[in-house]
This record gives sequence, structure tokens and C-alpha cells, in this order.
Amino acid sequence: MPTAMSEREHWTSRIGFILAAVGSAVGLGNIWSFPFQTATNGGAAFVLVYLLVVVLVGFPAMLMEFTIGRRGQSNPVKAFDNIGFGNWSFSGAFGLVGTLVTLAFYSIVGGWVLSYILGSVTGAYFGDAGAYFGSIATGPPAVVGHAIFMALTIGIVALGITGGIERATKVMVPAIIVLLAGLSAWAFTLSGASAGYEYYLTPDFDILSSNLDSIIPYAVGQAFFTLSLGFSTMIAYSSYLDRDDSLPADSGAIVIVNTAVALLAGFVVFPVLSTIGVNPGSGGAGTAFTSLAGAFGQLTGGAILGFVFFVTLLFAGLSSSISLLEVPVSYVSETYGYERSRVAVGLGTGIFLLGLPATISQTTFSWYNAIVFNFIIPVTVLMFALFVGWVASDQLSEELSLGSSFGDTFTVSWLWWVRLVIPVAIGLTLVLGIQSLLLKGGIIDAAIILG
Ligand code: PHE
Repeated sequence: MPTAMSEREHWTSRIGFILAAVGSAVGLGNIWSFPFQTATNGGAAFVLVYLLVVVLVGFPAMLMEFTIGRRGQSNPVKAFDNIGFGNWSFSGAFGLVGTLVTLAFYSIVGGWVLSYILGSVTGAYFGDAGAYFGSIATGPPAVVGHAIFMALTIGIVALGITGGIERATKVMVPAIIVLLAGLSAWAFTLSGASAGYEYYLTPDFDILSSNLDSIIPYAVGQAFFTLSLGFSTMIAYSSYLDRDDSLPADSGAIVIVNTAVALLAGFVVFPVLSTIGVNPGSGGAGTAFTSLAGAFGQLTGGAILGFVFFVTLLFAGLSSSISLLEVPVSYVSETYGYERSRVAVGLGTGIFLLGLPATISQTTFSWYNAIVFNFIIPVTVLMFALFVGWVASDQLSEELSLGSSFGDTFTVSWLWWVRLVIPVAIGLTLVLGIQSLLLKGGIIDAAIILG
């Protein structure tokens, strides 16, 4: 093997790992998707379902990837081999394919964000944000934005785990939190803010009960996506961990911070929209980029705040996109012994090309999105659950307890939860998700990621 295990990099500190994993989790999913999904799926009642899913399914599922990654001490394909079950490598590879497709469309949205940063400086979207979005969402501006965003992602990943990813996320993650907190404090001072808070925080259980079959797959999909689960990403990141970390404690911290950031984003979006009288439930990818951006155009100081908001979004997007690229890069460089920086450039370029059709057609964009949400994520998580729960349960429950003070009861309960509850939850999501794929003519609206 070209890359011996001893040559692998490791995070320089526990906080370095936590910030990198939080960086992966906190992304466009939290700041764009969460508030708008909340709005379109019944407001506060959706938040409640989502929080339950995060705790009951997301947290234990994150531990599945962490145990595989730390035990395997390798890329998400080889890890299964190192644990003693090379014939399960296909499940890691499946997640890896998910990172390619996801990064292809994620980077296009990253490109839109870059256009909005520019637009905040030039004022280009202040008059008519809808027209601005129309002019940058597809075609040459989208291609340029996509290219720049991919180049930034490649640049960070090429520098390696400690020199690139750890260093970048140590700056970006605290910045995201501080900037979002500042924006939410500003939003609090707006005159029409209270109606927005009411919308966000008052549950309507009628909507919930009559739409539960569609809300559940959305909540589960959103929970996995936002926690970066079902992509092998957390396997890759935890493979650079030493054995003395407590996986449950780290995982708990990551889940809490990620959820707090999503909730905080709602405290920016809802008051701002209510101040200018926009119904947040009228979502959709376009509306999301237009209504909020339009609001910045109308408010005093909106140019600066719009700039800050889109820079925050850029940091969130980048700290996630690097984790998506890390998965295939670690696999190719470790398997074939090529230099990481070259692999990052090669694969990054390939993913850029894969994204091109989605810069031309919004339908292709929605397809990429739908395939990832309705198929790749649930299938990958299901395979991981079966692997952890039924195949490598001895090794992986032992791995969970290493460095952890949570005790045997926790480990045993987790194992049974992974064996029974998670597969049932995913099975349900998969059936409901595929049903909606078929029923709705194959397209889940881009709203699923962008609102
Ligand atoms: N968690 C990121 C977000 O919420 C997206 C992501 C998914 C990143 C999977 C890495 C892996 O935007």
C-alpha cells in the first residue's frame, strides 16, 4: 500500500476535529434550507419534528460513522477492509458517489453566493433581486461562480488535513457563529420583527398532522444532510482521530452547535422577511435567494448586512464543500499513492464538469438534488446501520467505548438502537421519499435544499 497508516495525518487537537466536523455540518443546509423548509412545512411544528429526528436518529447515526472511521483509520472505502470486512467497502463507496453528485450542485449554489457578495458591493440586486437571481442562476455567470467556488474548495483540500481543512475551519466556524449572532441581534431591532418570531415559534399542529407523511421524509433528509451523514464524510473526518477522544461527547457537541446555528439562521431570516411583509412560506430556490436578498435591498444599512450575510453563507458553504471533496481525495490518494494536491485538482475539475449540466438547466439541478436526498442518503445510512449493528457490532461497540466515559449501558442501548430503530426510520423515509419521487414526476423541488 502506498500510504502506510503511520504516515496519515491526524487532527492536531480535539477542538480542531470538532471545528472541522462542525464546519462540515454547518452549511447552506442550515442557513438557507432550514428556515425555508421550516416555513414551507408548517413553521414551528416542523422545527419540533426536526429536533426530534436530530436527537433520535441523527446523533446515533453520527456515532455509526465515527466508529467506522476511527476504527478503520483510512479512507471510507479502505476503512471497511481494515475493520475486517472488505466486502462491505461498497457501502463507503456508495457514500463517496454521493459526495461527487452533491458537491457538483453544492458548488453551483456556492457560486450564486459569490455573485451575491459581489452584488452587495455593487448594489446589483437591490432594485430587483428576482431579476438579479435570474441573471446569475444559470448560464455563464453560474459557470464562473461554480468555477471559483470549486477552485477555493480545491485550494483548501490540497493543503491537507491540518494545513488546509483544520486551519480553514478554525477561522471560518467561529466567524460564522459570530456573524450570524450579530445579524440576529440586528434583526431583533427591526420594527416588524415580532410577526416573524411568531411565525417561526408558534406551532400549528393541524398542518403537522395533515402533512406528516411528507414532513417526515423532509425532516429526516434535512437532519442527515445538515449533519453531513450518509456521505462517508464523517467516516473520513473521524479516521484522522486518535483513540483518546470521546466519540459520544464530540458527537453531542457537533450536533448541538449545528442545531444552534440552524435555529440562529431562523432568527435572522424570519424577522427580516416579516419586516418587509414577505410570506416566508412562498419558498422555492429562486424565492429564497430573491426575497431575503430583496429585503436587504430595502432596509437601512441593508448593503452592509447583505454583504455580511452572504459572506457568512460563503464560509458555511466552503467549510462544508471541503469535507465533500475530502472523501474522494482521501480515497484516490491513499489507494493509488498519488499526491493529495494533484488528486484534489483532478477530482475537483471532474466534479466541476459534472456540475456543468446543472448550471444550464434547473431541472438537472433538481434531479441531482433529488437523487441525493431521496436515494443516496437513506441507502447509505441504512447500509452503515446494518454494518454497525449486525456485521461489525463487536469491534464497533468496543470502539465507541474507547476514550468515552459514557459506560456500557450507553453502548448497548446505542447498538440496539442502531440495529432496530434506525433501519425502520430509514425504511420509512425511503418508501415515502421514493413514493414522492414517482408521484411528483421525478422532481423534488430544489426547495429541498434551498427552500
Ligand atoms: N452539512 C452540509 C450543509 O448543511 C452539507 C454537507 C452534506 C456537507 C454532506 C458534507 C457532506 O450544508
